[in-house]
Amino acid sequence: MSVPVVVELSAQQTHPLRRAVLRFDTPTKEVVFAEDTWPGAVHLGLLVDDELVATSSWVPRQLDGDDSSLAVQLRGMATARSLQGSGFGGLLLEAGCERFAETGVRLVWARARDAALAFYLRHGFEAVGEGFLDAATQLPHHLVVRHLTLEQPAGEQQTGARRDGR
Ligand SMILES: CC(C)(COP(=O)(O)OP(=O)(O)OC[C@H]1O[C@@H](n2cnc3c(N)ncnc32)[C@H](O)[C@@H]1OP(=O)(O)O)[C@@H](O)C(=O)NCCC(=O)NCCS
Repeated sequence: MSVPVVVELSAQQTHPLRRAVLRFDTPTKEVVFAEDTWPGAVHLGLLVDDELVATSSWVPRQLDGDDSSLAVQLRGMATARSLQGSGFGGLLLEAGCERFAETGVRLVWARARDAALAFYLRHGFEAVGEGFLDAATQLPHHLVVRHLTLEQPAGEQQTGARRDGR
């Protein structure tokens, strides 16, 4: 197996994994997010042996009620179903946080599915407020936030991944 490589993707390139992982069992089958084309939105994927194994989308966006920090919303975290639990999602999450910490972003937030909450908590996020039912997916969610610092941008874990410019 080759060393995982973090790559920048177009929004369209995230659609197959979004569809297969995030939409296979939900009432909505929509894989296009309105925020995909917002200014500054970045889509990051993880390539292993030339195969796209995980995707994520990062959108510059303030968190409601917090205008103190430069913030990014993480959306569409998905690892190919047969490869979940292999560490790829963690690598991609840490690589994205490191990249945005370097650009001055101090807060990453997400609407996390409860099924994935442990994954976010393990990576330095905190759950904030009461749980809620997401309208599109009808799945229970929590808001999660992670504060980034330049000194420790990648949280407790190392990315272990190579980064490509594309
Ligand atoms: C949530 C998700 C993106 C995480 O990606 P992943 O590639 O499975 O993440 P990792 O493998 O890094 O970590 C997942 C778990 O596997 C464990 N793990 C990590 N490396 C591992 C390894 N080498 N071997 C076995 N298990 C491992 C971790 O401890 C982690 O456990 P946790 O859930 O208790 O935190 C992925 O599981 C997924 O796509 N889930 C379905 C869609 C979804 O819920 N997306 C999030 C929407 S908010």
